[in-house]
Amino acid sequence: MSEGFAVTPWNVKGKVDYDKLIEQFGTKKIDEQLLIKMRNSAGELHVLLRRGIFFSHRDLDLVLQDFEQGKGFFLYTGRGPSRDMHVGHIIPFIFTKWLQEKFNANVYIEVTDDEKYLAKQDLELEEVKQAAKENILDIIAVGFDKDKTFIFQDTQYIKQMYPLALKIAKKLNFSEVKATFGFENSTNIGMLFYPALQIAPTFFEKKRCLIPAGIDQDPYWRLQRDLAPSLGYLKAAAIHSKFFPPLTGIEGKMSSSQPETAIYLTDDEKTVRNKIMKYAFSGGQPTIELQRKLGGNPDIDISFIWLYYYFEDNDKRIEEIREEYTSGKMLTGELKEILIEKLNTFLEVHRQEREKRKDMIKEFMYEGKLASQMWENNIF
Ligand code: TYM
Repeated sequence: MSEGFAVTPWNVKGKVDYDKLIEQFGTKKIDEQLLIKMRNSAGELHVLLRRGIFFSHRDLDLVLQDFEQGKGFFLYTGRGPSRDMHVGHIIPFIFTKWLQEKFNANVYIEVTDDEKYLAKQDLELEEVKQAAKENILDIIAVGFDKDKTFIFQDTQYIKQMYPLALKIAKKLNFSEVKATFGFENSTNIGMLFYPALQIAPTFFEKKRCLIPAGIDQDPYWRLQRDLAPSLGYLKAAAIHSKFFPPLTGIEGKMSSSQPETAIYLTDDEKTVRNKIMKYAFSGGQPTIELQRKLGGNPDIDISFIWLYYYFEDNDKRIEEIREEYTSGKMLTGELKEILIEKLNTFLEVHRQEREKRKDMIKEFMYEGKLASQMWENNIF
């Protein structure tokens, strides 16, 4: 915490300095040149790339090279299931789906009911499994291609992964995982083995694996990259996103366990309105007169930041909003209304897609082309 912030897979504290994080984690910034390469390969740039929300990477240049040379690559991401999935959690999946479409790549999605159960003292395994089912429906709603996507839950798929996890576990010693994750003597022993299971899917194909995820997950990829060559696999590549900040202000990340900081995928229109009006931290002035005179500060205004990060994808419109808000032409209430409308439209579409695809769990987890191939082939 000496830098004023800390990022681990389980917690984010303080105002994250993303440039410093790149240094701390030893990753690379996604620069202009790489964005141009990405645009050339994909045909366009997703808003999360244009706005720098996916901002850091490992070996993304090599992934694009593999793609251009016809070798291809595969995608891997995941979710530690909890009852309430918030809009920040769904962002990596939206981006992964875009990558799948543009690069025609297989996607593997790990649902880590084991990790969640082990990490949270107060959770029963049955509760986590129920949450997993709900979260999987949310993930399916994003629109993945059922023939090229495999969603698997650790407690079910463990038998298939175990041989691979063993090989990984044998390469990791206690002091390494302790240093990487800050484990203590009181940490339960399940947590010590778990990293082997989060690393295992990076070896599901012999091609290069690209992992789109929040940067909090990077410590796992660091370990993976150290041990992969010795097991005859490629080092995993990663593309990292910033965190959607909590509604209450730019420090930390939106958190499932603090309802006032998050918009959940299950929030109805009224709840969204109430939360944004009540909690969304404003960079505006205390009175209308002062706002008109001095303008607001979009850099600390959560409504603006959320619109900028994802919810207003029109580049021209977002700059107009910035201009109007900064100049005082737009009031805080008006800015909040824009976000409320965008969020409610997003959530309405999500609800509809979830309903439409609610009977597809089997296809993604067992019966789709990639899913059945994974269960049938003893690839490990
Ligand atoms: P989990 O469930 O904590 O988070 C799921 C994904 O959401 C990202 N994330 C966020 N992104 C933007 N803003 C936020 N406020 C925010 N909070 C979380 C996370 O970085 C993650 O990408 N251990 C993992 C599960 C997992 C996994 C993986 C994740 C297993 N294998 C491979 C990514 C890639 C977990 O508990 O994620």
